[in-house]
Amino acid sequence: MSNRTLTIIKPDAFMGGKAGLILAHLEKQGFKLISARVMKLSKEQAGEFYGVHRARPFFGELVEFMTSDYCMPMVLEKDNAVLALRDAIGATDPAEAAEGTVRKLYAESKGKNAIHASDSDENAAREARFFFAETDLIRA
Ligand code: CMP
Repeated sequence: MSNRTLTIIKPDAFMGGKAGLILAHLEKQGFKLISARVMKLSKEQAGEFYGVHRARPFFGELVEFMTSDYCMPMVLEKDNAVLALRDAIGATDPAEAAEGTVRKLYAESKGKNAIHASDSDENAAREARFFFAETDLIRA
């Protein structure tokens, strides 16, 4: 899975009509769309997906936000995908994100930060399987 990663266009960006712009921005950088869906996460799903942050003070706010409206999980492919996507989206806090990154361009705040990206190959594989069936990810 090292050439694939999982991203989520979060409710702020998706409902703000930025999904197409963000995907085009990433495609211009060489990311290829493998699979996508549009969905509203349940509290259970968001809690499980962000389980690693359960003890953090922002966990409640994070689950509340991620379940507030529709979002768009996607699997993207590119060489060294996890690192390449983390570079492309920028720092968690848009105020600290580099020029030209997705969060600099489209995020509002550290909480409402437009996009999620997996932080390791292991998590990319786990997160891709969280949203997609094996058959959604096949490229013959
Ligand atoms: P994400 O890449 O989706 O992974 C964990 C998320 O927690 C992160 O993006 C932020 O949206 C959120 N997060 C991190 N720190 C804070 C914070 N201090 N306040 C609110 N949300 C945060």
